[in-house]
Amino acid sequence: MDSFIMGLVEVAARPGMISFATGLPDNSLFDLAGVRHAVDAVLEEDGGCSLQYDSPTGFIPLREWIADRCGSELGFDVDASNVIMTNGSQECFDQLGRLFLNPGDGMVVENPGYLGALQSFSSYSPDFIPVDVTPGGIDLEQLDAALSCNPKLFYSIPNHQNPSGNSYSLDTRRQVASMIRDSGCLMIEDDAYGELGFDGRVGPTMKSMSPEDVVLTGSFSKTISPGMRVGWMVVPDWMVPMASKSVEAASLQSCTFSQRVIHRFLCKNDYDAYLVGLRNSYAEKKRFFLDAMEDALPDTVSWNNPDGGMFVWLEIPEGYDSMKVFEGCLERGLVVMPGAPFHVHGGGNAIRLNFATPTREQIIQGMSILAEVCRRM
Ligand SMILES: Cc1ncc(COP(=O)(O)O)c(C=O)c1O
Repeated sequence: MDSFIMGLVEVAARPGMISFATGLPDNSLFDLAGVRHAVDAVLEEDGGCSLQYDSPTGFIPLREWIADRCGSELGFDVDASNVIMTNGSQECFDQLGRLFLNPGDGMVVENPGYLGALQSFSSYSPDFIPVDVTPGGIDLEQLDAALSCNPKLFYSIPNHQNPSGNSYSLDTRRQVASMIRDSGCLMIEDDAYGELGFDGRVGPTMKSMSPEDVVLTGSFSKTISPGMRVGWMVVPDWMVPMASKSVEAASLQSCTFSQRVIHRFLCKNDYDAYLVGLRNSYAEKKRFFLDAMEDALPDTVSWNNPDGGMFVWLEIPEGYDSMKVFEGCLERGLVVMPGAPFHVHGGGNAIRLNFATPTREQIIQGMSILAEVCRRM
């Protein structure tokens, strides 16, 4: 399953293929004009510095912007020195695995969880301790039991989880914060979709509730551009020296030019207004997608109604295999993402659907393929 995602990205890109499978943002929502202006301004005003090496932990004005946003939107105050820029937030997982995991160490993960992160942590051979994801976030009893095994890390996506689309309720956040505090386990709060709540952020960050025990990872991939590869981690003071050294050793730094372009984009545009536009577009897309599901799919299958992000979680009846749905759809020109690869155990009857990437026409066509395959089963 190691290269399952990349395999799907390739298959999904084949001419004529409709994809509900990958985690790509909607191409048509990238602000090409805004980025072009930012690129021109960076080249003209910053000159050679824009193409030069820079600080290993990232472009300082961008780190200051992110630290300010942590204060204004994410509910906690940090210094720019706590913000360490990476090549997409994906790099954070490798860095954190490298820093904290030895083979056989316990690591709590959500079940299902984000496959890309699970693959990254796997390189350090931890023993994954799966905790089920529920509509309200995470199973608290299972989490309590998992924390009693003295795990080193707990990887979580409290907002609009990939793959399930679920978010932690306020009560779950409070209880998780109190469990994690002084547990000796470092929590990784992956906030990749946190800015994509259709009505704004859906809850306080875990980092604001337990600042010393949580590393928050963030990214501009889902809001401005995944191809520019600008992500970051916000670490507690005690981690700054080790994380800075580790990032420098791995890649010297993340891309100077992308960081400067994104910083210029943020300074020249009203980012909050821009986000409102993006959120509204995705909310509308989700409504259209769910309506199409309602119209086409048999009532033996069920799905959730996420309040942000990009994913809907579809369940077919227990005992049926979503891999077969995947294969049936593929034969007919639709790519969907079966649930099992996201799980440490179980998930064989689930399917992740991305409502953000396909056009409306593709949604209608794809849904009729999915409906036909489900009915045949
Ligand atoms: C939940 C989650 N975290 C992190 C990432 C990695 O994103 P990036 O490295 O582009 O910031 C993704 C990408 O799809 C994701 O879905």
